[in-house]
Amino acid sequence: MDKTEWMKLYLDKHNIALIGFMGAGKSTVAEMMSLMFAIRPIEMDVLIAKREEMTINEIFAKFGEAYFRGRETDLLRELSKEHGNIISCGGGTVLRPENVELLKENSRIVLLTATAETILKRVKDSDDRPILNGHKDVDFIGALMEKRRQAYERAADIIVATDGKSVGSICIEIADSLIKLEEACNV
Ligand code: S3P
Repeated sequence: MDKTEWMKLYLDKHNIALIGFMGAGKSTVAEMMSLMFAIRPIEMDVLIAKREEMTINEIFAKFGEAYFRGRETDLLRELSKEHGNIISCGGGTVLRPENVELLKENSRIVLLTATAETILKRVKDSDDRPILNGHKDVDFIGALMEKRRQAYERAADIIVATDGKSVGSICIEIADSLIKLEEACNV
């Protein structure tokens, strides 16, 4: 069976969730996975912003981070009843254990990693991440990444480093790792 066929069968019952720090490449990889394997992409931040009719910056400024985290949990509760999606989570989604539980109901969780230097290169020209605004430097990014590392690694079924790799090769690596993981679970 080729990867596309395998993915189609797999997604009949499951989702794939991409987690990791801001700028780890979740959205870009989700888009490419969607094209390569005909999977429905779900961008959590975009969906939440659309529902709230505000940007993420506006949600944080008006209602605060806790409110935003609550909307993430609401959305995951809905997605836990679906299948066939590649879900690009927000960088903070899996910091709430409840969200990890919801994801684990029907998703395999893929952690994308990158060094603080790579992250800085990817996020430096965008101002739409309230947590990084005013802190776009390697020290802040490295320290926050370290603080979150355990939560990310605990939640992950698969870990894929993204530094220096093409988006296409990351997608193939994810598919190969998922196939291997399912094979190992089914023996
Ligand atoms: C956040 C990451 C953002 C967004 C919000 C908070 C975080 O998503 O959900 O700004 O706490 O790491 P991306 O990782 O897609 O940038």
